[in-house]
Amino acid sequence: MSLEKIKEIIRFMLPNSFIEVFKLVRDSIVLPFNYGYDFYRYIRYSSTFSKLNNKNKVRALLIKDFHVIEKGLSLSKPRPGFGQVVVKRVIRYTALYIENYGVDSVVISSLNALIEYQRFNKKNDLCIQWLDVFLNNVSHVLASNQSETGGTINISRSEILEKSSGCFEDLANTRHSIRVFDVTPVSSEILKKAAIIARKTPSVCNRQTSHIFIFEDNKIKEDILSLQGGNRGFGDMASHIVAITSDLNCFSGANERNQAYVDGGLMAMTFVYALHSLGVGTCFLNWSVTSGVDRSLKKVANIPSSHVVISLLAVGNIPPDLKVACSARIDINEMLHFVK
Ligand SMILES: Cc1cc2nc3c(=O)[nH]c(=O)nc-3n(C[C@H](O)[C@H](O)[C@H](O)COP(=O)(O)O)c2cc1C
Repeated sequence: MSLEKIKEIIRFMLPNSFIEVFKLVRDSIVLPFNYGYDFYRYIRYSSTFSKLNNKNKVRALLIKDFHVIEKGLSLSKPRPGFGQVVVKRVIRYTALYIENYGVDSVVISSLNALIEYQRFNKKNDLCIQWLDVFLNNVSHVLASNQSETGGTINISRSEILEKSSGCFEDLANTRHSIRVFDVTPVSSEILKKAAIIARKTPSVCNRQTSHIFIFEDNKIKEDILSLQGGNRGFGDMASHIVAITSDLNCFSGANERNQAYVDGGLMAMTFVYALHSLGVGTCFLNWSVTSGVDRSLKKVANIPSSHVVISLLAVGNIPPDLKVACSARIDINEMLHFVK
């Protein structure tokens, strides 16, 4: 007899009041312990106390800072010479990043932002000499890595309107949680295409903290699903199980302690919409688990321990005919508040 079955029988036999008291006692012990787990992980993996000891941390801090320059330059009237304290930090982090991790698209974006910043200042009769010195020192990096990324881009309203004119209302209204999947698996190309679309998800200071782990191996899928409580009757039909995570290495300070959930949540939703737009069915699978189960998933799925698991997804092709749960929404006036 399975453990679940035994639990079910005990629950059936015990009076409700006893079960309520038991849950109360259990939760008063388990809840602080689990907050402790989150606290410990945030201290250990975020850059709150140890800032520059791995690539992900330096990269997040660098992006966060050069994004201040990009943002400033995109304003209607930037102030010449704005943000020089941040610019000095960008120089320090860029040099450190190149020295330890080489040149990649993040470095190029950072350098292009600095170049545009310097150009803007010069146009306004301000020459920041220490910035010139740095840009001269790294000119060879840009010479061998020509790319337009970084700084600002010019775009028109008509271009935005023209390219965004697909019907989002229809896309949103035709997405349902799918709990029956076709036997034909979703192709890796489609999954990659959806991830490329989802990469455009906004993230705090553009730090891009989210990751998408896709599992297709039957044994790994089975192990993952056995740790998740809401996939009975359909999880095994999914051609892929996905885990959306957010890396604590990218966050710092008490104010950002919950940011991983926001960034990762946005990524999860965009990825689901992207898959839906490509004709693929998905069902979110909650990752509402206690610390021990979270640790087990990290082990089974080989997810780095610095990552926060935001949600799992069951993913598969949609069969020709199917039923979906109605999942009616509450009255719009219950959730929409125009505050005057
Ligand atoms: C974070 C999250 C976790 C969810 N977990 C589960 C789950 O474990 N099992 C399941 O069958 N559905 C799960 N769902 C799906 C919800 O039941 C579903 O989104 C909701 O009923 C609305 O229906 P719709 O997605 O068809 O619009 C989850 C949804 C979200 C957003």
